[in-house]
Amino acid sequence: MDIQESISQLKKNKKVYIYDSDVYLNQKWQHYQNKEKKFWEYEVKRPDYNSNPKEHIRPSLKHWNIDTSYFKDKTVLEIGSGPFGFFAGVSQMNKGHLPKVLVMADSLMEFYQQFEISNLIPENAIQLQAPGEDMPLPDGSFDIILTNNTLDHVKNCDDFLKEIKRLLKPNGHLLFCAHFITAIAKPFKPIIKKIDTNHSYHFTQPDIEKLFDRHRFNLISKVSVPLYKEEMIPLEAKFFKKCIYVIGFHIMQTLYGVADLKRKN
Ligand SMILES: C[S@@+](CC[C@H](N)C(=O)[O-])C[C@H]1O[C@@H](n2cnc3c(N)ncnc32)[C@H](O)[C@@H]1O
Repeated sequence: MDIQESISQLKKNKKVYIYDSDVYLNQKWQHYQNKEKKFWEYEVKRPDYNSNPKEHIRPSLKHWNIDTSYFKDKTVLEIGSGPFGFFAGVSQMNKGHLPKVLVMADSLMEFYQQFEISNLIPENAIQLQAPGEDMPLPDGSFDIILTNNTLDHVKNCDDFLKEIKRLLKPNGHLLFCAHFITAIAKPFKPIIKKIDTNHSYHFTQPDIEKLFDRHRFNLISKVSVPLYKEEMIPLEAKFFKKCIYVIGFHIMQTLYGVADLKRKN
């Protein structure tokens, strides 16, 4: 079965194909998903919120050392797209560089349809609601899988990487970025976990690298950037919240990476 055939078996609500995976039964992860819903409900109403998809994808393109033509004619899956995803940015930069086949997946895709910004998703994209740990798609389908700022939100990062490995073509590439806490902040992880209840994982950089190694991914390139260099503190945040942001942006970094599958010896 190919991608189109697999997708066509699923039920559909407006633009989104829906897969009812057992992963959704996990209460602990549902707590994080509810937090994510609240975050976006708040975010889209913020007076200074500007989705700006082009600006959103610029750091990733720079740190992966690619331009949008990288995706042209490829079969691509984005996992954890959020309400508009990486390819809204590609579409605004150069429509002609959109992938030949594009699946944009998020565990909350159906929920995101209520937001006007979801109309920024390119028309040729297949919109799929499914968890990255369990995708209703055939083995070895994708040249590129892209997952930005999602690894630390998933239910189970091992199952997530196993599934990516299953879905990638043998010579495919995984492009990702993920937040991590710096080595200095590691002793404070129990406190960070208490304050930041939005993330299921609080990795350090070595944790992420070990995770990739465990699943036989080869990190072809990696760049880490402190959050304060690329993220903006919301203007309307109250003083105490602004202080938390300032501390958070100094003890957290983003790891941008490109990986491929290690060859079997
Ligand atoms: C922080 S948002 C990032 C959104 C977007 N990629 C960005 O960079 O702005 C994380 C997204 O991952 C999704 N997510 C969380 N767990 C997931 C899972 N197991 N499978 C697929 N998506 C997941 C969330 O619903 C959310 O939309």
